[in-house]
Amino acid sequence: MRLNLSSIISLIILALPWLQFCETVPVPTPWPERFHALTYKNLSSDGLQIAHQWYDWPRGRNVYIIQKQLSDLLYNVEWNNGTSFYYTLGENGSCDVVHYGIGIPRPDFLDGATYLGTRFTDGFLCNLWEKLDFIWYYEDVQTKKPVRWDFSDGISVHVMTFEVGAVLHDPLIQAPSYCFNQDTYAKG
Ligand SMILES: *[C@@H]1O[C@H](CO)[C@@H](O)[C@H](O)[C@H]1NC(C)=O
Ligand SMILES: *[C@@H]1O[C@H](CO)[C@@H](O)[C@H](O)[C@H]1NC(C)=O
Ligand SMILES: *[C@@H]1O[C@H](CO)[C@@H](O)[C@H](O)[C@H]1NC(C)=O
Repeated sequence: MRLNLSSIISLIILALPWLQFCETVPVPTPWPERFHALTYKNLSSDGLQIAHQWYDWPRGRNVYIIQKQLSDLLYNVEWNNGTSFYYTLGENGSCDVVHYGIGIPRPDFLDGATYLGTRFTDGFLCNLWEKLDFIWYYEDVQTKKPVRWDFSDGISVHVMTFEVGAVLHDPLIQAPSYCFNQDTYAKG
């Protein structure tokens, strides 16, 4: 077949929708099945906090060890069956047990998020997605590590370290006995 200019142009026009379809929109990297992250938050009205997050999908567990400024260390252990423990240790340790209707985030919890383009944040060039008007998620374009996520309540979580595959070996995440001899309550 001999192609003249006009047939080449019409071929390109026909192919355009297909080419656009093939152009890949970035998708968020799923969370690794296990990671450790050190995060920083400024809760503005409720102070500053750093937290160690230990996400462990195979164990069905997501642990936050939270240090609010000049406050007792708070353990928040979330289980995939919807139960969360919040406790402090020591002489005046306290505990709250909350039954949420839902478990911990799945590794692919960002599936279906809307891509909003690239942004500079915290000094990193990131891809930004939004899901359900609930979370805005920034991921480093090059390393694919999360840099920051914002919730609709205005709180930003800044990721300071992100260690893929790290596992928490800490007996302190066994909820203390005083979590179990009390009334629990349901939420959500
Ligand atoms: C935290 O946020 C508040 C309110 O936006 C701001 O006034 C304060 O300077 C921030 N603190 C830090 C350490 O960023
Ligand atoms: C969920 O799992 C944790 C850890 O095994 C357990 O302590 C808690 O009682 C369980 N909650 C329910 C509702 O079964
Ligand atoms: C625990 O509470 C008691 C009574 O309020 C107080 O005297 C004591 O200093 C507290 N202990 C600690 C470690 O905070």
